Amino acid sequence: MPDKSTLDVVLTPNLLTLYPLQGKVVVVIDVLRATTTMTVALDQGAAKVIPVESIEECLSYKDKPNHILAGERGGQKVEGFNYGNSPFEFMDGVVNGKTLVLTTTNGTRAITMASSAKEVLIGGFLNFSALTRWLINESSDTILLCSGWRDKFNLEDTIFAGAVIHHLKEYFLVDSDSAFAAEKLYLNSRRNMLHFMKQSSHYRRLARFGVVNDIKYCLRPDLTNVVPILKNGALVRADVTKDMV
Ligand code: MLT
Repeated sequence: MPDKSTLDVVLTPNLLTLYPLQGKVVVVIDVLRATTTMTVALDQGAAKVIPVESIEECLSYKDKPNHILAGERGGQKVEGFNYGNSPFEFMDGVVNGKTLVLTTTNGTRAITMASSAKEVLIGGFLNFSALTRWLINESSDTILLCSGWRDKFNLEDTIFAGAVIHHLKEYFLVDSDSAFAAEKLYLNSRRNMLHFMKQSSHYRRLARFGVVNDIKYCLRPDLTNVVPILKNGALVRADVTKDMV
């Protein structure tokens, strides 16, 4: 029986420097709302999603045909942008066939920081089952990277990481305090996720901006089988048709 691959949780992007990424799969998690929005965009027909760390880099795409620029800072749409980071903005055909160039406070920075990994995937509740099937099928050492808030711990990403740990721990070697804590947080919250999430700082921040519907959407499981994967600096749909477990 071959040794199992490892599965671990990194609680904030700044801790990522402590974890060798060579040969590993990294799942970037930014449940409220970046990784949810990226997955929705690809589910809604976007050709690709280019995650960029800075507003300036986002603006460098503004004259490219068939490119849509979008971004938020602090949870609010970047001034002068037509699109922010609500998943609802990228439905109804808006992105179909287009390239979405997106910059967010934490999620796109986390993706950039993870880009030296063997594979970078995007996870959220909306693609939970498709993502976990892909991870089982790939069976590589895997890191669940929580985007947090400005390099601090956040509840929502850690709870999602805990859900993945709980679901995959029989398939992987899980042996870290961060993974143990994330799973316990998930087990303590899963019976009433929205109530638990109301304790999170970002829930309260977004609620102040009147986007509670975004939060409720971001917590809904298995809305799509699309799993975004980073290829040549852009997120595209991973091939989930392989013989999955
Ligand atoms: C983030 O990058 O932290 C989030 O996507 C912020 C948000 O859109 O609310």
